[in-house]
Amino acid sequence: MSDPTSGATATSPVPAAPAAPTDERPYSPGLEGVIAGETALSKVDGANGRLTYRGYRIGDLVEHGTYPAVANLLWTGDWDPGVHLPTAPVPEPVLAALRALPKTAKPMDALRTAVSSWGASERVAYPPTPEQARALTAFSPSALAAFARIREGKEPVDPDPSLDIVAGFLYQLKGQTPDPGDARALDAYFIVGAEHSFNASTFTARVITSTQSDIASAVCGAIGTMKGPLHGGAPSEVVDQLSKMGSVEHAEQWLRDALDRGERLMGFGHRVYRAYDPRAAALRKVAEGMEHKPEWLALAIQVEDMALRLLAERHPDRPLKTNVEFYAAPVLQGVGLTPDLFPATFSLARHAGWTAHILEQAAANRLIRPDVRYVGPAERDLPS
Ligand code: ACO
Repeated sequence: MSDPTSGATATSPVPAAPAAPTDERPYSPGLEGVIAGETALSKVDGANGRLTYRGYRIGDLVEHGTYPAVANLLWTGDWDPGVHLPTAPVPEPVLAALRALPKTAKPMDALRTAVSSWGASERVAYPPTPEQARALTAFSPSALAAFARIREGKEPVDPDPSLDIVAGFLYQLKGQTPDPGDARALDAYFIVGAEHSFNASTFTARVITSTQSDIASAVCGAIGTMKGPLHGGAPSEVVDQLSKMGSVEHAEQWLRDALDRGERLMGFGHRVYRAYDPRAAALRKVAEGMEHKPEWLALAIQVEDMALRLLAERHPDRPLKTNVEFYAAPVLQGVGLTPDLFPATFSLARHAGWTAHILEQAAANRLIRPDVRYVGPAERDLPS
């Protein structure tokens, strides 16, 4: 096939095109290390393994807060531990859209479809408001629970307004009031998943908002970005890798073989953290305290030590530590979620951060439109 940038065809070969003058402005692939905005929402201190939301340490928020209180903190800047945020009903046109999907649709696709239909049926418009952020964050758990039931041939369950959002999600998923310990564990997961500065999906949401598009469109784009396995897919693969190891006796050999094959150990390494991910530390505590923890948690804890040792041996110059996904897996499985629901559940948790960034972007908006280094042919005449 001819190179569309060179202009050559089978019948009219043309000489190699002259290169364009080199653009010497700095460029960082993947925008690594580039400051692309300002935020007051969270600070990720990768060197020291610290994370704060509006200045408050993540460990303290998990210990003393709830997801509604943390979401409210992100949206408004105010700390009110008593905030109540129940799930919201799914509008009929959204339910019809979810019923029309194939039962085999991925939960992330269903959630993206639901948010898109919600935006259309609620006719949300720019500029985004805290009320829109609350409404969308409260709607999405109901929509995901509805799809999870519809695909099993069951009817969706209406919200219970007495339950807060995370317990409400479990209630609508399973059709029975959840165990308080399970609800508390998943709430902790939602808190650590709520916000993480300029990750790929949040950046996407801000780019969409910067065009003065609406909050539903921005969250649809964010869900699409999080769907990629480099962003939101790791916890289910942690479960997969642990089940392949099977037992502690086989674990070290399995880990060595996987590294020899050039494979990544899931739940380890991070673009920003060079120290232990503080979210992993918080979730390990939660997982160990769960009444219904998966039986493989003990294996996971032993595997973590082995994996850290082997990664340090193989990459002495690059600290590769446990990341949040390693201990997200036992919490999500422990509360009874199937692995295919893990990425969409992560998206539900991230709604607070996405929508807070959308509000922050709109409050001091400037169209996000970076430049690109052109590396194609220099200006030239069409072949005659
Ligand atoms: N297992 C084995 N080796 C690893 C791992 C890992 N988990 N992570 C990085 N490395 C190695 C790479 O092979 C590479 O080695 P090389 O220099 O010999 O080629 C070196 O460490 C640097 O890797 P990069 O890909 O440059 O690191 P980057 O910072 O871009 O990657 C990432 C971060 C994608 C998270 C990576 O560590 C990874 O793939 N981890 C496994 C998947 C995972 O757990 N993802 C969840 C991340 S947390 C989140 O997104 C919420």
